[in-house]
Amino acid sequence: MKKIYAILLLSLFILSQCKQNESNLLKTVTLKRQANEGVVAANGMVVTAHPIATKIGLDVLKKGGNAFDAAVAVKYALAVVLPKAGNLGGGGYLIYRTSDGEKGALDFRETAPAAASRDMFIEAKTDSVMKQKALLGHLATCTPGTVDGMDKIHKKFCTLPFQTLIQPAIDVAKNGFAISDYDAWTFNRAQKEFRKVNDSSMIFISKKPWKKGDSLIQNDLSKTLERIRDNGRDGFYKGETAQYVIDEINSGGGILRKEDLENYSSKWRKPIEGIYRDSFNIISMPPSSSGGIIIVQLLKGSNAYDFKEMGHNTSKTVHIMTELQRRAYADRAEHMGDLDFYEVPIEMLLDEEYIATRNASINMEKATPSSEIKAGKVDKIESLETTHFSIVDKEGNAVSITTTLVGYFGCKVLVDNAGFFLNNEMNNFSLKPGFPNIFGLVGGEANAIAPGKRMLSSMSPTIVEKNGDLFMVLGTPGGSTIINVNYQNIVNVIDHGMTMQEAVNAKKHHSQWLPDAIVMEEDALDSLTISKLKEMGHTSFRVVEQLGRTEAILIRPDGSYEGAADNRRTGDAIAGGY
Ligand code: DON
Repeated sequence: MKKIYAILLLSLFILSQCKQNESNLLKTVTLKRQANEGVVAANGMVVTAHPIATKIGLDVLKKGGNAFDAAVAVKYALAVVLPKAGNLGGGGYLIYRTSDGEKGALDFRETAPAAASRDMFIEAKTDSVMKQKALLGHLATCTPGTVDGMDKIHKKFCTLPFQTLIQPAIDVAKNGFAISDYDAWTFNRAQKEFRKVNDSSMIFISKKPWKKGDSLIQNDLSKTLERIRDNGRDGFYKGETAQYVIDEINSGGGILRKEDLENYSSKWRKPIEGIYRDSFNIISMPPSSSGGIIIVQLLKGSNAYDFKEMGHNTSKTVHIMTELQRRAYADRAEHMGDLDFYEVPIEMLLDEEYIATRNASINMEKATPSSEIKAGKVDKIESLETTHFSIVDKEGNAVSITTTLVGYFGCKVLVDNAGFFLNNEMNNFSLKPGFPNIFGLVGGEANAIAPGKRMLSSMSPTIVEKNGDLFMVLGTPGGSTIINVNYQNIVNVIDHGMTMQEAVNAKKHHSQWLPDAIVMEEDALDSLTISKLKEMGHTSFRVVEQLGRTEAILIRPDGSYEGAADNRRTGDAIAGGY
């Protein structure tokens, strides 16, 4: 009897050890996915704009890498599979929250070359802005930040060797991948501009239209990635790659120089934080992005209104959101620019009293024309050429990264022999006070061009905590609309009780002070809602095909993750979990 009892005890012990080992490896939660949820998984989630990038990130997590390891692998994969935005030649932002609650931001935004100057896009004789020069071709390019950013992330947080993380991207560049319908559409759309600023031998230039299933092999890019693999950031900012960049720039009259590349350094920054509805802490990007400040201004301003009772996309809710947005974007134009060059009054802009004063001029029944709104004292919606990804690992480390080349394929110049596109980030500076950029955004002194300065951005990778725990990871492309899309996604989940996927799918609206208009997706607002808004004095409405393309993760009450990819209109975005 004693023997049987001992065996039983031993078996129970072994069983409990096995369970413990298993739970060390994988979280054990019962997953019940509701029909209105995105992808649900217990241990890790990767949401990116491309299936190959999502798979590469997920493989890293499954192999035991953390969210930062996966992010570095995903970023390099996107540089290969999403040439229009993925980028080595651009820049971006990271917002992170580690499993023990440490939060931070990395600014790997591009910087203006040393030879840049305030009025370089103003024609002296006519005083007119040479808008095209800041958009298409070599002069539009600023010093890229992506490779330095990934290097900093790797050194601070990653557990796997860099070589292991970049290798999948090299393999895809070398072996090729079958392009999607969406890729073919974007490549075909840019042919005319490609031809203007590249030799006809450039690999994206094709005599016959690109079509789904065509193989894209990028040999020059694979060699550039190999140089980065073998030499780290120096494989990009120095030596052969740097020389190719400078040769390319010189061939087209650009001003980027070797020293600009050598001197580039991304910067760790303190995120913007603010409380929404008592329990939620918003963590988002500080300047050089305007995103974090405006999202927190909008949400703090929203605390005074009960959106749940007002309803989703009703005239009352849209009216209040529009009023908040026009005030916040007026502040953007006046007060925001690169922190290292301009004293952005962050404290004032986020101060509860200041926000209450701004709210005080909001009439519940009547629109305030934007012409009557000024910044507080102290038109075009581009297609989506930036890209965002969100990752959470099994420990709960969360990474939210948005990166861009600005326009699709940036300034459209592919660096000869190096195989990557250069950004057209000059456009995001204020080229002349009051002159709108491609997103219709205006600005002034705070965002004027200066050597080494970062241009103001709207990109806002964001993380939300609930009662001190990780709750949501989100971000989107969309130029000036990025901020409002993030704002509405947060409100959709917190106030309207939507799942992450419902929030992402929900139709969005956008306003940005100037131009004074409400821009919306088709069917975002019904005709009765629009009539009511018109009665309130909102005069201009415009329908656009899409606002944002969010890639987001929500932490469910049982601790598992809901990954929501955005496939409005077109795109290949996908969430993958395990
Ligand atoms: O930094 C910015 O705000 C812009 N360069 C973002 C560009 C963007 O989202 C393009 N996609 N629509």
